[in-house]
Amino acid sequence: MNVERKGLFISLEGPDGSGKSTNLSYVKSLFSNRDLNTYTFRDPGGSAISEEIRDLLLKERAGAEQLHKETELLLFCASRMQLVKTKIDPLLNVENNVVITDRFLDSTYAYQGVGDGLTSEVLSLEASLFGNYIPDATIFFDISLEESLRRINARQKEYNQLNARDIEFRKKTFKGYQERFKNNHERMYRIDATASLEAVQEQLEVVVEQILNHHS
Ligand code: TYD
Repeated sequence: MNVERKGLFISLEGPDGSGKSTNLSYVKSLFSNRDLNTYTFRDPGGSAISEEIRDLLLKERAGAEQLHKETELLLFCASRMQLVKTKIDPLLNVENNVVITDRFLDSTYAYQGVGDGLTSEVLSLEASLFGNYIPDATIFFDISLEESLRRINARQKEYNQLNARDIEFRKKTFKGYQERFKNNHERMYRIDATASLEAVQEQLEVVVEQILNHHS
């Protein structure tokens, strides 16, 4: 755990359709059941201004001026910084607090870094701005591309300019997550998210136990 942190910081990561958002409340309950004060946020979003930035990112602009990928990267960082400063950092100053975010730095590596070809920019922004905000543990929902596409098609989520990316982009984000996992083994706990919801939740119980043992 970060030496100055009193609380525990957990992120949930994985490609679109991997089940992170579905399991967020389950993960939260696994911590709350142990008398920990648990707070959840989504990234981008999670504070009033971060939600405004999220709206900018998700807005569809048919035929009009589009966001450049570099602008997108900076907006993701801006939303995250505001979330960290206003919500996450103060909460992590308190004993027995657990902060759980739906997505965080690894998403930027996978999507803007490997997906959009901005890996070196992502890594330098991460080092200069977010070095003190690396999660203590990350639960990585690892899923096959085929199963993720099947779920995305089945749920017909509301269309926005980020979830409408093409298959080649999606493949790159998968590669990004695998790279990131390979280079961050000590922090990232992988679960097989292709499995059934029940099997995923069994794995989550084991992983949460491991995280708590490691950070107690
Ligand atoms: P969201 O509706 O929150 O998707 P999900 O429920 O799958 O998390 O939209 C977030 C989208 O933004 C998602 O497609 C991933 C993308 N994203 C990035 O491209 N970069 C980032 O840094 C983050 C946090 C998300």
